[in-house]
Amino acid sequence: MQHLLSVDDMSEDFIHEIWTNALNNKDNISTSLSGKILTNLFYEASTRTSSSFYSAMTRTGGSVIPINNVKFSSVTKGETLEDTIIAMSTLSDCIVLRHPDTGSANRAAKVSSVPIINGGDGEGEHPTQTLLDGFTIYSNNNKSLDNLNITFIGDLKNGRTVKGLVKLLSRYKNNNFNFISPESLKLPSELLPSNSIESENIENVIDKTDVLYVTRVQKERGSDHDYSLSLEKLNLLKRDSIVMHPLPRVNEIPREFDNDKRAKYFEQMRNGLWCRIALLEKIILG
Ligand code: NCD
Repeated sequence: MQHLLSVDDMSEDFIHEIWTNALNNKDNISTSLSGKILTNLFYEASTRTSSSFYSAMTRTGGSVIPINNVKFSSVTKGETLEDTIIAMSTLSDCIVLRHPDTGSANRAAKVSSVPIINGGDGEGEHPTQTLLDGFTIYSNNNKSLDNLNITFIGDLKNGRTVKGLVKLLSRYKNNNFNFISPESLKLPSELLPSNSIESENIENVIDKTDVLYVTRVQKERGSDHDYSLSLEKLNLLKRDSIVMHPLPRVNEIPREFDNDKRAKYFEQMRNGLWCRIALLEKIILG
């Protein structure tokens, strides 16, 4: 049984198999997961991740038990995460868990009799977002994740998506990292790759950036800051750069930029569907 708790659980071969199958899924979806059941267990807000798993599972013939609002579940009666996981693993073939506590997916995996997919654990990781983020770069960059100048901006301390993508891109060759945030929202120093620049403003790096990865300030995790990139600033990007955002956006990127061919944030969502179909097939069918 294979859990997906962290980017560390995904070997290069595993990732390439998922991405190859994701490319195939774009043209040809089968009913491979017919008769299989996924539990979507979400203790924290989600639109994209829960719906993307729902769509992936049902498009391939499977079904979903949606527990998207734990206010109406036994959690309010005091049930522990462990007991909820044991209960749901008797009813389903896989569980996607989103939870506000870092490390909760690992706790779940210890008691589950079915695979656990970490759908975001507090300020920890969100490995399926990393899969789709990596795939978005891969499919926009001639199937390569080498030789990139990548700029992360926003809440690098509390956002989990940046942490996973930095881990993934650090495995490839010749990547340079720029981390732009106020002092209070810096990436934890133990996660900084050796070849990185940290700064409070983007001006010095924006015109060299190949991939701009924009993130939301995580107010629900205590961050208190606001920022938005102006159209003028975004237009300093090279013509062949790409702009990514895991979404939801608040006001980091102006809506007027959405039609720019460098804007890839809605494409990321579409890619998420293809990647999650491939992932569920791999994890549930083996
Ligand atoms: C991200 C998350 O939940 O970590 N959203 C997502 O899954 N697409 C980013 C965020 O909430 O800011």
